[in-house]
Amino acid sequence: MQETLGFCQETRPESCGFILFGATGDLAGRKIIPALFGLCEKNIAPKNFYILLAARTPLDRSGLESRLRASLTKAGFTPSPESFSAFQERTEYMQADYESEDFYKRLSLRLAVLDARSGVKKKRLFYLAMPPAAFEPIVGRLKSGGLLSDPEDCSCWSRLIIEKPYGASLEGAASLDAGLKTSASESQVYRIDHFTGKETVQNVLALRSANRVFEATWNNRFVDHVQITVLEELGLEGRANFFEHMGLAQDMMSHILQLAAITAMDLPATFRDTDFKAEKKRFFESVHPLDREAVVKQSVRAQYAGYRAEPGVAPASPVETFLAFKFGVDNDRWRGVPFYVRAGKKTGLKKTRIDLVYKKPDLGIFKHIDIGYPNVFTFNIQPDEDITFSLVSKHPGPKLCFTPRSMRLDYRADVKEAQSYPTDYERLLIEAMSGDQTLFLSSFEIRFMWEFLSSFTGTWKGGPQASPLYSYADGTAGPAEAADLLKKDGRAWL
Ligand SMILES: NC(=O)c1ccc[n+]([C@@H]2O[C@H](COP(=O)([O-])OP(=O)(O)OC[C@H]3O[C@@H](n4cnc5c(N)ncnc54)[C@H](OP(=O)(O)O)[C@@H]3O)[C@@H](O)[C@H]2O)c1
Repeated sequence: MQETLGFCQETRPESCGFILFGATGDLAGRKIIPALFGLCEKNIAPKNFYILLAARTPLDRSGLESRLRASLTKAGFTPSPESFSAFQERTEYMQADYESEDFYKRLSLRLAVLDARSGVKKKRLFYLAMPPAAFEPIVGRLKSGGLLSDPEDCSCWSRLIIEKPYGASLEGAASLDAGLKTSASESQVYRIDHFTGKETVQNVLALRSANRVFEATWNNRFVDHVQITVLEELGLEGRANFFEHMGLAQDMMSHILQLAAITAMDLPATFRDTDFKAEKKRFFESVHPLDREAVVKQSVRAQYAGYRAEPGVAPASPVETFLAFKFGVDNDRWRGVPFYVRAGKKTGLKKTRIDLVYKKPDLGIFKHIDIGYPNVFTFNIQPDEDITFSLVSKHPGPKLCFTPRSMRLDYRADVKEAQSYPTDYERLLIEAMSGDQTLFLSSFEIRFMWEFLSSFTGTWKGGPQASPLYSYADGTAGPAEAADLLKKDGRAWL
């Protein structure tokens, strides 16, 4: 176990009830139920805590049990009989009929019983793990059924967690937001982007805050450019229906912008969520969505060669599976530093990382010798979780030769300790149970994301003449045009 130094802030989830709507779905089975079990296994669940799963599918006790078992096994858990039955005891199922008032009455009565039995004081987290079209009517009925508490009431709380996509367009997102706001306040809505729950992403800010060496050089005097990479090895994995409506840009833009913000925002004065969000907002206000000309010149969209042969994909599908682009940040810290992004499916690589590339040396002998970019900070987010810093040193021996070297901070070196870390979803659930919105997205960020995305999708509506859809071989890291995007600036993808 490594020693912690000086500052150690622990998030303590409050005793509460967790109500999962859409509990029979893919997200619930793959992520949320395993995260709830993980919190219990790692002893980080609230002291008093119950789980109510709800969906329209009828499910008896044994049906629920086999679903829970299947979900945990698929997520890699092999629960002991004791831990599984302890989890089962906390968990019950209720068949939902979201359109009937009677359902909300039954729900209210049941929650009152569960509150009393578990020692919970009307503190409830509602997770809406269902298609977004259902959010607004359900939240409205929760409100009219007296299940959403007054946000000013300190004795109890009700919070709502929702997942992307937040609408299907800029207008759709604004209308969803307005609809939710008629029943719930911004402080009650927790919008998830699970990338913000990842350890290395949080460590970007921790390192920047605690180590002066970073902050002093984290700017356009020292940094040449930034690269953000979100490459997936897999293709569609049977999700053609979802992806054909979505496309890579819409699927990934929130993750990309969150990684950019955490890398480049100014540090907040405190770790309070309000300060953090204010700084993040300031960062986004310095990023201007690309205009049509910039989309054409500074972005490359592409599709992997085998995409149209995937089951469920239209034979002439224009949907992109790869996107690379360049953008800038218009503030004193970053003006002049290009941010290059690439994201794609079926690239032969599973790699999510942020690279901060420092300028080349321009003193002494290096005025005349190009040794590339010796200093790069790399934050590996997945699948590896480590941080490396590359530098150049003298090669041992009688001659003065230079060798590239790398220092590595391995995040999971202490395997035993690492197993007790919360996963991204576990961490996000704890934060929501604690009432800390730092890792969740504000309605401003959602609006910004849609504005930024719309500049791409709006240009692409003009068809291949306005912006070509390139092709890349399955299992390769994007088309040659993506490499050219950096090449014409005298740079290359790392
Ligand atoms: N799956 C993922 O990996 C993923 C990733 C990111 C974001 N999300 C988002 O997370 C949410 C849930 O995703 P999902 O993939 O689990 O969705 P899903 O499988 O399509 O739906 C989840 C459950 O919602 C219920 N449902 C379906 N249509 C409904 C309706 N009109 N009204 C009320 N309930 C309905 C169904 O259960 P019953 O019929 O039993 O009620 C279904 O099992 C969505 O908003 C999705 O966009 C999912």
